[in-house]
Amino acid sequence: MKKRIGILGSGMVGKALALGFAKHGYAVQVGTDSEEKQTHLRQELPPSVQVSTFSEAASFGEIVVLAVKGVAAESLIGRLYREGHLHHKTILDATNPIAIDQPIEEGVLPYFTRCNESLMERLQKTAPEANFVKCFSCVGAHLMVNPQFETKPTMFICGNHDQAKNDAIHILEEFGWDYEDCGSAIAARAIEPLAMLWCIPGFRKNQWMHAFKWLKEK
Ligand SMILES: NC(=O)c1ccc[n+]([C@@H]2O[C@H](COP(=O)([O-])OP(=O)(O)OC[C@H]3O[C@@H](n4cnc5c(N)ncnc54)[C@H](OP(=O)(O)O)[C@@H]3O)[C@@H](O)[C@H]2O)c1
Repeated sequence: MKKRIGILGSGMVGKALALGFAKHGYAVQVGTDSEEKQTHLRQELPPSVQVSTFSEAASFGEIVVLAVKGVAAESLIGRLYREGHLHHKTILDATNPIAIDQPIEEGVLPYFTRCNESLMERLQKTAPEANFVKCFSCVGAHLMVNPQFETKPTMFICGNHDQAKNDAIHILEEFGWDYEDCGSAIAARAIEPLAMLWCIPGFRKNQWMHAFKWLKEK
């Protein structure tokens, strides 16, 4: 199993996954281009987690985690791909296409994508020789690593590359998740909106401690 993880993003997801990967014995480098955030990250994260720029983290990772604001994802991926840091790598894509210039109405997040497209498909087109897998997008950062529910919750994944999905599945199993492989990248059209649904009880009732479970008849 690939053991070097580069995390793009200094927010809640980047930090939660950095701690999770470190706990599970991976070598982790978290990237942000903000020097101020690098300083904060070095204070907040254990010394075993390295902190660097986006380019350095992408270059370091055998597997790369994308955890930046959805509106910033395409331009960042385009740049890192042109720099040659992403070719043939598994990219675990936790992003959601949340619009930042529209209000949240009755707990429903506004998206900048339409129903018949997804952010991950755009990213896959931007970086055709990187292997995107939608993963970790439909649950809060605080529940991504070994969440404590009565049963294992389900993470919905999709992507065009089978080995990349196997990488994601291996990590999900270590992190205490069941998974449902929804097929190729086009299925991100269905998976990304799950984050809208997941957030509704949060915004309406301040309830954030839930996850999806895919029930199957025996
Ligand atoms: N929060 C959650 O619980 C959660 C759960 C599931 C999925 N997600 C998704 O995961 C992603 C990360 O979420 P988050 O809450 O951890 O953090 P966030 O606040 O959505 O994003 C923070 C990161 O985005 C980067 N960023 C913002 N604008 C940028 C730009 N113009 N160019 C490059 N980078 C930019 C920031 O870079 P700097 O470090 O340079 O400031 C920072 O690293 C989002 O797409 C979100 O929808 C979030």
